[in-house]
Amino acid sequence: MENRIAQLQLEVDRFEIGNLADLEAFRLEFIVRKGRIAGLFGQLKEVDPADKPRIGQLLNALKVSAETKSAEAEALFTESAAREHVAIDLSLPGRRAFCGSEHPVQKVLGDMKHIFSAMGFSIATGPELELDEYNFDLLNFPPNHPARDMQDTFFVSRGQEGGDVLLRTHTSPVQVRVMLDQKPPIRVICPGKVYRNEAISARSYCVFHQLEGLYIDRNVSFADLKATIYSFARQMFGSDVKLRFRPSFFPFTEPSAEVDVTCYLCGGKGCRVCKKSGWLEIMGCGMVHPNVMRNCGIDPEEWSGYAFGMGVDRTALLRYKIDDIRLLFENDLRMLSQFTA
Ligand code: DAH
Repeated sequence: MENRIAQLQLEVDRFEIGNLADLEAFRLEFIVRKGRIAGLFGQLKEVDPADKPRIGQLLNALKVSAETKSAEAEALFTESAAREHVAIDLSLPGRRAFCGSEHPVQKVLGDMKHIFSAMGFSIATGPELELDEYNFDLLNFPPNHPARDMQDTFFVSRGQEGGDVLLRTHTSPVQVRVMLDQKPPIRVICPGKVYRNEAISARSYCVFHQLEGLYIDRNVSFADLKATIYSFARQMFGSDVKLRFRPSFFPFTEPSAEVDVTCYLCGGKGCRVCKKSGWLEIMGCGMVHPNVMRNCGIDPEEWSGYAFGMGVDRTALLRYKIDDIRLLFENDLRMLSQFTA
C-alpha cells in the first residue's frame, strides 16, 4: 500500500498542467470521487488496523498535495484569463480622444495674420499692462486732451514714479515700442488684447482684440496704405468688396481715415447688421504723425509711414453669426465646442 501511495504521489508530481484541458484531465484522474486517490482510500479497509493511522496519514498527504496542485493551477489560469480578458475586451466602448478647438477670435486673427504675413509683415507683441507714456504721450496725445477720454481707461496705479500704469486701451503702444526698438524699414502687425472701461452689453465688452499695422520706409504714401488695405479686405471679406475711406481724427496719424467695407452679409444692399447703410466700418488708419516718429527717434524728413488698427471680435461675431460679444469671453464649452476643426 505504501508503495502504491508513493507511486501515485510521483505521478501527481510529474503531471504537467499547461492549460485548462490538462487541469481537467488532472482532476478527473486524481481528484474526483471516482479518481485514483479515492480508489486508494477505498482500499484502506484492507489495511492491517495497526497500520491504518499511518497509511491514512500518507493517503491524506497525497490527497492534499493533489488538491493543492489543482487549486494553484486553476488560480493561475483564471488570473491570466482575466488579464487577457481586460486586454482584448472588444465590447468596451472606445475612448474618444479629447479634441480641443480653436477659438473663433483666434481663427479670425489667424486669417488676418496669414494675409499680412504673405505681404511681408512680421508680428510684434507688447505688454497688456502698459505705461501711460506709451499708450498716450508718445502717441501724441497731449496731456488732458479730450482724445484720452475717448478711450475709457482702466488705470492700475496713478502718480507712481515712472508714470501711470494702465491696461492698454489699444494696440498702438506696440507701434511705439517697435519704433523705439528697430530702425526703419519697419513692417509689422501687432495683434493682441485691449481693455476699456465701457458699459458691458451684447455689443461691447471690457476686453477685446485689435490688430495694429505699421509700415515705415522711404517715400511711403497714402496710396500705399490704400493698396494694402484694399488687398487685405478682398482676401479677408471677399474679392468683390468695395472700400470707402472717410476722413477722421487720431492724434497719432495725419491725415487719418476710417475705412468701411461694403457689408459682406448683404453685399451692400443694406441689412440689419449694417443698419441699412450697406457699409461696415473695419478700421482706423492714417499716415504716422511726424511727432510720433520724432518721439520714437525716427527722422520724419527721411522716413514716412502708415499705420492702421482694426477690431477683431466684431468680424468673428459676424462671420460665425454670434449675437453676443460676451460669449467670446466666457469660455463656455457648449459654445466653444461648436468650433472644432
Ligand atoms: N488705436 C486706434 C483705436 O483704438 C485705432 C487706430 C486708428 C490705430 C488709426 C492706428 C491708426 O494705427 O492709424 O481706436
